[in-house]
Amino acid sequence: PQDIYINLVLSYTDLAPDGYTRKVWTANGQYPGPLIHCNRGDRLIINVTNNFEDPTTIHWHGIFQLGSNWYDGVGGQTQCPLLPGSSFIYNYTVGDQVGTYWWHSHYLAQYVDGLRGPLIINDPDDPYLGQYDYEYVLTLEDWYHQLAEDLVAMRLAPGYQDFNPVPDSGLISGRGRYNCSRADSGAKCDPYNMPAIYTVTKGKKYRFRIINMSAEAFFWFSIDEHELMVIEVDGVAVQPIKLSVLPIHIGQRFSVIVDASQDIGNYWIRADIPFDCIISSPGTINHDSDFFENNNITGILQYDGAPNDTYPQSKKNNDAWSNNIFPCQDLDISLIKPYVPVAPPQKVTDRFNISVTLGPDKKNTTKAYINGQSWAPDLTNPSIMKIMEEGISAKSFPINSNAYMYDTEGGAVEIVIYNDNGAEHPFHLHGHNFFIMGMDSSGHPDVSKYNFIDPALRDTITLPGSGWAVIRYMINNPGVWAFHCHIEWHVELGMVFQLIEMQSKIQELKMPPSVEALCKPGYQNTKRLP
Ligand code: C2O
Ligand code: CU
Repeated sequence: PQDIYINLVLSYTDLAPDGYTRKVWTANGQYPGPLIHCNRGDRLIINVTNNFEDPTTIHWHGIFQLGSNWYDGVGGQTQCPLLPGSSFIYNYTVGDQVGTYWWHSHYLAQYVDGLRGPLIINDPDDPYLGQYDYEYVLTLEDWYHQLAEDLVAMRLAPGYQDFNPVPDSGLISGRGRYNCSRADSGAKCDPYNMPAIYTVTKGKKYRFRIINMSAEAFFWFSIDEHELMVIEVDGVAVQPIKLSVLPIHIGQRFSVIVDASQDIGNYWIRADIPFDCIISSPGTINHDSDFFENNNITGILQYDGAPNDTYPQSKKNNDAWSNNIFPCQDLDISLIKPYVPVAPPQKVTDRFNISVTLGPDKKNTTKAYINGQSWAPDLTNPSIMKIMEEGISAKSFPINSNAYMYDTEGGAVEIVIYNDNGAEHPFHLHGHNFFIMGMDSSGHPDVSKYNFIDPALRDTITLPGSGWAVIRYMINNPGVWAFHCHIEWHVELGMVFQLIEMQSKIQELKMPPSVEALCKPGYQNTKRLP
């Protein structure tokens, strides 16, 4: 194992990912942010310098942070945000984890403005090594021309509304093409912005690591006339799954092997947003029906020797090729078999029920609720500090801190999640991945139907609209772990809770002084703290 040193210098940069120039929240001036690449067991020492006018935090999506909860990057839960002009070093080992991850700001809706990038952990013992010749990273993002804080303000405006801002375009690996004829006069817009092009050689095989880094978009990903063979799901190697269309929600990752065995030519890579998967209604905020009709979010798979000056004429894959694909829903969990099956905990020591919904508050503003509470971060006194200082019971957390506690070291938790809302919500757990014991869009959890043998293991699941899911994991990582819908607008509405795992063990951990220093006086004076 090695120590890997990385500098992320955060600043605003004018960029035009889809041809339309806007102010982008960047790391090292790039969008998407730099690829962080390491091997299993390495230590990442990441110096973040915040040259924004806003505070920030960085989260490493999918990394367990075993014994290093304070580097998980959740403002209000695991750290005080970094003030403008300051630096902070995240310093953690990736342990035994391997596979495809990403990093992003976990401060307000900042990642939607651009602060996000891939994180790949190479596995020297990957069971699929030798079955592909090259690998590529491919990210998917919805993209907005307005600043995220303005979109959030619209989302939170008085008047109950169960719909989200509609993106202006979509990007594959940070590139897309906006229809500039719709741009405001005076905007800088290049109508011929090039999409992402992935070159392949006929006869070779390619691993694509696909990451959905969106604010709210669910995609059907496909490559015309090519099959996708899924080999990794959220960092876990799986038995091969052959698909023509891959469903991927925010925060989820898949590796697929693509065989460049077709005729030499150009083929569209597509990230389609199924129409019903963004709830919107005519005449509402930022509504743009044109987006839905023409959201050609595409890249190009280009064979060596194919013409450089013509667009693909390839045929879109028939969705019907794919088994078990339903609009807006996860890949069927019964297809996901870990490469080395692991039995889930057969018994649980701690169990709780969660119900998730959206609804109006007393002022008729839209809020998201988990068991009736809408999460509001306490940014100047994050949960981890409260616990370190005094230890605290869940009841003594302030209202709307959505805190749940479990303490049985070596035990197992079961969370039964009910979706009381008709839409899908991609729920992501920090600090763990979990066994999906069962999940359905109808009926009720039924223990006789759980998979006790070889369930799918993920860290992000799409909770079906009006459905339920039951997950289990071992209690072995002391910390405050967020569990939240990854639709960023829903985070801002409060669809977040925090799991406080082994409180007395948290208090025994040695928090580095640099983490404590983030919360020092003076902190509260920053003008941009909400
Ligand atoms: Cu991708 Cu709580 O994060
Ligand atoms: Cu949601």
